[in-house]
Amino acid sequence: MTLRKTRYALAGCAMAGIFALAGMAGASDIGQTVKQACSRCHSPKRVCLTVGVKNDAAWKATVARMVQKGAQLPADRIDAASAYLAGLAPGTGTVCE
Ligand code: HEC
Repeated sequence: MTLRKTRYALAGCAMAGIFALAGMAGASDIGQTVKQACSRCHSPKRVCLTVGVKNDAAWKATVARMVQKGAQLPADRIDAASAYLAGLAPGTGTVCE
């Protein structure tokens, strides 16, 4: 009985761990993409300065404008990139590393 419960708990932990890892991989993936695409013309510091200032809509407008200028970001990643940037606390994220 006790053993069964332990096994169940362990399986639960493993599942939670896998989901946590998958979530983190997704976030760092878009973080790296943003850093790469957004540090070609200006320093990522320029982006970092605005982290925590712009909201999601403002980031979407900025990212779309940068893509128009030639940022190497696929159109279907604009939303993910904007959401990533909008969700960062000031001074954090790959662009501030
Ligand atoms: C093709 C060159 C180029 C690339 C790539 C680029 N930018 Fe820019 N960025 C500029 C130029 C030029 C300016 C200054 C003129 C302006 O603001 O439009 C600028 C200014 C900015 C500013 C300050 C002005 C503002 O609106 O707050 C931010 C923030 C910014 N870029 C974010 C980004 C992000 C995020 C990316 C990646 C998606 C990116 N940039 C990629 C050329 C680029």
